[in-house]
Amino acid sequence: MTRNLLSLTPTPKGILQINERSPVHLHPLFSLVIPTYNERQTIEPLIGKLSHLLDSSIPDDYELIVVDDNSPDETWDVALQLTAVYPHLKVMRRDGENGLSSAVVRGWQVAQGQILGVIDADLQHPPTVLLELLQAALHGADLAVASRHVEGGGVSEWSIARRSLSRGAQVLGLIVLPDVVGRVSDPMSGYFVVQRAAIANQSLNPKGYKILLEVLGRGSIQQIAEVGYVFQERTEGESKVTWRHYLDYVQHLIRLRWHRRFPQTLFKFPIGRFVRFAVVGFSGVFVDYAVFYLLFNQAGFSLNVSNVLSAETAIFNNFLWNDAWTFSDLAQRQLGWQARGKRFLKFNLICLAGLLLNTAMVNVLVRVFGVNVYLAKFVAIALVTIWNFGVNLKLSWRVTDVQR
Ligand code: GDD
Ligand code: MN
Repeated sequence: MTRNLLSLTPTPKGILQINERSPVHLHPLFSLVIPTYNERQTIEPLIGKLSHLLDSSIPDDYELIVVDDNSPDETWDVALQLTAVYPHLKVMRRDGENGLSSAVVRGWQVAQGQILGVIDADLQHPPTVLLELLQAALHGADLAVASRHVEGGGVSEWSIARRSLSRGAQVLGLIVLPDVVGRVSDPMSGYFVVQRAAIANQSLNPKGYKILLEVLGRGSIQQIAEVGYVFQERTEGESKVTWRHYLDYVQHLIRLRWHRRFPQTLFKFPIGRFVRFAVVGFSGVFVDYAVFYLLFNQAGFSLNVSNVLSAETAIFNNFLWNDAWTFSDLAQRQLGWQARGKRFLKFNLICLAGLLLNTAMVNVLVRVFGVNVYLAKFVAIALVTIWNFGVNLKLSWRVTDVQR
């Protein structure tokens, strides 16, 4: 069929804001946006899978909206041809404005559904998970996220480097925006559904790839559900992620931090738990100093070896006390040796990162500023305690406020 017989969906202009729709007009139930850039090989199989899945679960009550940024491989045209076969498919071809997260918002702006969703076009997000996400939304979740970091989740053959980058981005997010990034186990996910009412009438200002951050940071999200999924390997085309997207991510975090002004955590800071954590940390100082004294002054080990071994002994001591006292309520919700082992591993990694910070601070204070070695250790321990508490609370003992 020639192109002009098939019509593209006009691209909204102006502010990125989704209007609310009165319940009587909320048809179809579900609108799924598929952002595309050079995905001509996978868009057809994806549309076929999604249509088959949704025709069998919510027939005639959904729409698929491809939002293409004028792909050089003309993905928009392949999708447009498909509208002759799939009646619930719409295609938007943007020219001038680009970027993954703004593409998703533009798609949601033309969407008519009560529940809005997003999925990647490259078949790395298994379409079958969509039904579980929809079920969670229909059972009251404001937001249902496909997560790689809960039971049933995972990444296929990601390299250690990519895993560390993804986790590193998450830790950075936990530091800058703990009250947003800490609410879900996979804040980097680009596969989720959200109630329209939760994000309507909010002027959105996303940057880069992480549209979920924008929804969590600006939406009114109370109840969150998570569904585990395994992020698939790409079979066609390649990822568009470049170093610029990591810069965008940092800018997006800062923009959302500013938007949210006073960190909610300042007012809800768990002071009681922090005091317990600090008491445990203090007990760890005695263990640290005692072992350090034995190794450094008695056994004649070097400064760094004594510092690392004594600190590691203190970390083990602290984990036992924190798991049994400081975070016992959270630990009770994650029983079993495997869960406990995972917590210890994360606790250890975070404390080791803290130990690196500690060692760097001790060396700078002692070697650059000539500070007394014991005073330098004390200052380093105090600052690293705050780091350890915040990141452990949100990563090691995290029980995100979600239902599984
Ligand atoms: N319209 C539009 N404009 N779509 C884009 C753009 C863009 O500038 N850049 C990427 N996309 C589309 C791709 O076509 C694909 O459908 C999807 O967004 C994800 O892009 P990838 O380049 O494949 O990202 P990835 O595989 O590294 O996935 C990472 O980012 C995704 C999006 O946040 C992972 O973090 C995924 O979990 C996440 O879904
Ligand atoms: Mn991908």
